[in-house]
Amino acid sequence: MNDQNREVPLLFTPIQLRSVVARNRIVCSPMCQYMSDDGGPAEWQLVNFGRFAIGGSGIVFGEETAVEARGRKTYHCAGLYNDLHVTQYRRINDFIKSLGSVPAIQLGHCGRRASAHGPLQDRAPLTEEDARRGLQPWQGLAPSAIPATPGGSVPRAMDRDDIRANIAAWREATLRSLDAGYDIVEIHGAHGYLIHQFLSPVSNQRTDGYGGSLEGRMRFALEVTDAVRDAWPADKPLFFRISSIDGTGGEWGMDDSLALARELKAHGVDVIDCSSGGITGDGTLAPLPRVPGYQAAYAREIKKEVGIATAAVGLITEPSHAETILREGQADLIALARELMDNPNWPLHAARALGLSEPLDLVHAREAQRLKLRESHRKEYPPGKAVDIPFGPEENVPYAWEALSAGARMRR
Ligand SMILES: Cc1cc2nc3c(=O)[nH]c(=O)nc-3n(C[C@H](O)[C@H](O)[C@H](O)COP(=O)(O)O)c2cc1C
Repeated sequence: MNDQNREVPLLFTPIQLRSVVARNRIVCSPMCQYMSDDGGPAEWQLVNFGRFAIGGSGIVFGEETAVEARGRKTYHCAGLYNDLHVTQYRRINDFIKSLGSVPAIQLGHCGRRASAHGPLQDRAPLTEEDARRGLQPWQGLAPSAIPATPGGSVPRAMDRDDIRANIAAWREATLRSLDAGYDIVEIHGAHGYLIHQFLSPVSNQRTDGYGGSLEGRMRFALEVTDAVRDAWPADKPLFFRISSIDGTGGEWGMDDSLALARELKAHGVDVIDCSSGGITGDGTLAPLPRVPGYQAAYAREIKKEVGIATAAVGLITEPSHAETILREGQADLIALARELMDNPNWPLHAARALGLSEPLDLVHAREAQRLKLRESHRKEYPPGKAVDIPFGPEENVPYAWEALSAGARMRR
C-alpha cells in the first residue's frame, strides 16, 4: 500500500467537537500539580503542560482548577477565581496552541475535601500547627455536614444562598477560561468532589430539592452545567467527568451514570469523560481490578446507550490498545495521565507503532528536521554494516557498531 492509500489510524484521525478540531484523539488527562501560587500557575505548569503539547497530544488538559479559593484542597492547588489568573493561564495556552494542541481546562470545586495537606504529606486536614506556620485551616462546603473521612473536618451544609453563590463562581470561572484562551472546558463531577458529593447518597442527605431521589441529587450538577454552558460559547465543546461507578457498597452504578449522562447531553454536554470512584476518599476507591483500560467499558456503555461522545481513561498504555478501543466504538477519545508523565512523546511513538505515514509531523518542525536526519542515518547504516571511521587525514579504522555495543574495543 502506498502512503496515500494507507489507512490513517483512528487515534490520529482529527476529531471535531463543535467548531474545535483536535489533530488526534490523544488527550492529556487532567493532572493536579499542587504547585500553584495563590491559585495561579507558575513556570512548572508552563513546562509540564507544554511538554505534552510538544509531544503531540491532540488535547492538553491542565489540572483540576478551583472556581473559588475555598474550593481548593490545599493552599497549592490551582484556581481561576481571580482576574489576575487569566494572563497567567493565557501564557501557557498560547504556547500549547502554538504547538498545534487544543488547551483544555478542568474546572472543579473540592467541597468537603478542602483545607488539607498535599499528597506528598498525608492529605490529612490542616491543623492548628499548620495555622501557626501561616496555613490557616478553612471550612469546606458540602451538600450535608458529613466529613469526607471518619473524624475528618466537618463541612458546612450549603444553604440556598451558598448554592446560588457557588453556581455564580462556576459561571465566572468559565468566563475567565474563555479569556485565558481555553478551547475546551470540563466540569469535574467525579472523584468525590463537590458535584459528586451532591450526586452520591453517601454524602448528600439533604431533604430539600437538591437531595433525596436521583433527580434531586442530580439537580446541582445540572444547574452548574447550565451556568457553564450558558457562559461558554456555543461553538466550543463542554466535557463532564463522572465517576461511572462508585462506592464499596455500590452506591452509584451504571444505571445512575446512564441517567446522568442522558441529562447532561440534554443540557449541552458534548463529551462524558468516564472515570470512577472517590466519594469515600482515596483509600476506598471503587474496587476495580486495575487491568489495562479498566474504565473503558463504562465509556462504551454510555456511548452506546446515550449516544454521546465519550473519553476512555485508565491504564491505557499501548498504542494498539488505544486504537482498538476507538475502532470498536467504545470511545471517541483516549485520555492518558501517568503514561504521558512517563513518556510525554507517547503520541510520536504511538504514531510510529501504528504506521502513520508521517509520524514526525506531530512534533515541531525544529525537532522533526533533526529526527528525520537521524532516521536517514539509521537507514543508511543499519546495525552490523561495516564502515571505515576516519581517524585522521590518512588513517581509517574498520568499524561495525554491533561489535562496539557488544563490548569489543575499537581496533586501531
Ligand atoms: C498526578 C495526577 C494528578 C491527577 N489529577 C487529576 C485531576 O486534577 N483531575 C482528575 O479528574 N483526575 C486527575 N487524575 C486522574 C487522571 O486524570 C486519570 O484519570 C488517572 O490517572 C487514570 O489514568 P492513567 O492510568 O492514564 O494515569 C490525576 C492523576 C495523576 C496521576
